[in-house]
Formats: sequence, structure tokens, C-alpha cells
Amino acid sequence: MSRTLVLTNHKGGVGKSTSATNIAFGLVQVLRSAGAPNPRVLLVDTDSQGHATLVTTGSKDYGTHDSLYSVLMADRKDAPRVLTECIRPSNWDNDLHVLPASALLESAERELIGVAGAPYRLADPLSKIAHQYAAIVVDTRPSFSLMTEMALLAATDAIIPVEPRYLETIGLMSALQKINAIREGWRHPNLRVSGILVTKMDRRVRGHNQLLEELQAHSILGRLICGVIPANEAVTYSHHRNQSLFMYDPRAAASKAYAQLVGRLARQFFSKRGE
Ligand SMILES: Nc1ncnc2c1ncn2[C@@H]1O[C@H](COP(=O)(O)OP(=O)(O)O)[C@@H](O)[C@H]1O
Ligand SMILES: [Mg+2]
Repeated sequence: MSRTLVLTNHKGGVGKSTSATNIAFGLVQVLRSAGAPNPRVLLVDTDSQGHATLVTTGSKDYGTHDSLYSVLMADRKDAPRVLTECIRPSNWDNDLHVLPASALLESAERELIGVAGAPYRLADPLSKIAHQYAAIVVDTRPSFSLMTEMALLAATDAIIPVEPRYLETIGLMSALQKINAIREGWRHPNLRVSGILVTKMDRRVRGHNQLLEELQAHSILGRLICGVIPANEAVTYSHHRNQSLFMYDPRAAASKAYAQLVGRLARQFFSKRGE
């Protein structure tokens, strides 16, 4: 079964889209250099703002016929076919494919509330095409909305990106609770938290160091930390050029940290033993 990794946190600006796009691209590179017969990775953008869609495809003009919106609105029987038709290659790599978001996703959420089976309208068609991909990476919007619930129900693994600030770490607890609620309440036992990713870490800021130490010392959260990404201007510049961080500057501190994370995830996802 291919793994589906969701990046989630109801806070905006914590690095969800940066992480989703660069992890997806990084996994393709790792798989290809390991000689994997199928290095394809699918990036699913469930945020109506479409940042992940924009940087990877150069556009966020997707709508009724070529985006996730089309999949959510399709009849159950047609949804896998519509999904296949809406997936497009990214500008970053031929083997990185994208299911674009759309500004229409906001209204889709409103229309779907109360519709039977609505929370499974992503998980269901995705499960039908998952075998075509080595992995799927899902970016989410900054809220616990129906759309985010759909993303969590489609996932096997969740990473929560968090900035090393006090109030952010309080939000972290509610993100963890939400994932637990999906696993237990929705009977989705395959979903597990595969990590807390500390982002925008500035070693010069005392509060950042303090919080990272507290997180590391925490009996449960400490074991969940899967990486620390430094605050690094290269991230902003790569976005301005719609490039992956690895292409923009593979030697940048954030690139090296993301490369480490991708290596760890690849071992977790693709080694026969798992972790
Ligand atoms: N490691 C980093 N260093 C510096 N800036 C970053 C870093 N990660 C993200 N950013 C910047 O922070 C902003 C929010 O990042 P983004 O990935 O879009 O967050 P989210 O998807 O959670 O809203 C963007 O402008 C991005 O360029
Ligand atoms: Mg985002």
C-alpha cells in the first residue's frame, strides 16, 4: 500500500506548503537515485489559496474541470476517472504530479456539508489510483474544516509543522487531538502521527532555543520530532521563482534540513521493514 502523508496544522504560515512541496519533490529524487521502478509522487493541494499548486505548476487558475473541486463534485462512480483527468505534471519534475487546488474549494465545502459520505470524497477516489504512485503528499488549509477532515481521512501519516513559539506549541496539542479524533472517532486506524516538524528555527533567538529544548524534553512530543528546519531566506527566494528549494540552492541550510527529513521519510515509507 502506498503511503499518503498529510501536512497539517490549523495555524497558517507554519510551513505546511513549503514542506509538502519540497518533501514531495525530494521523495521523487530519492526514489529515482535508488533506482526505484516507479518514482512517481502525487501532490494533492486541498488549500483553496493554492500556494502549493502555484509554485509547482506556475498557475493557480484551476476550477470546475481541472482541479480537486471537480473530483469532490463528481458522482462516486465517476470520481476516480475525474481525478485521473485532473492530475497534471508539475513544472518541477516529470514524475512529480499535482492535483491542483481551486478557489472554488471554499464553496465546495459549504455545498458538501451534510451530504452523505462527504468526508470520504477525497479518500475514496484517491484509494483507487494510489497504486500508480510511490507516495502521495497532501497539503492542507489552515483550519480544521471539512476539507482538512477529508485530507486526514485520505492519509496514512501526518506531519505537524510548528514554529518554535509558545502559542504555536499550544496549537500543536489541538492538532494532535484532531488527528486522534479522526483515528478513533472515524475508525481510521491507519492514520498515525509520523512527526512534529519544527520550522523557521532561528538559533539566535533565545525563545526558539528554549522552546525546542522543552519540546525535546517532553515525554511524548520529544519522541515525535522528525526534523528541525532553520529559518532561511532561500525558502522565500525559491517561492518567488516558483522553484523547489533543492533546485534553487541545494546547499542552503533549509535544503540540507529538508533533505535529511526526506531521507528519513523514505526509509520509513519504502524500506521493507518500515520503522
Ligand atoms: N524555513 C523557512 N525559512 C524562512 N521562511 C520560511 C520557511 N518556511 C516557510 N517560510 C515562509 O513562511 C511563509 C509561510 O510558509 P508556508 O509554507 O506557505 O506556510 P503554510 O502553508 O503553513 O501557510 C512563506 O512566505 C514562506 O516563504
Ligand atoms: Mg499553505
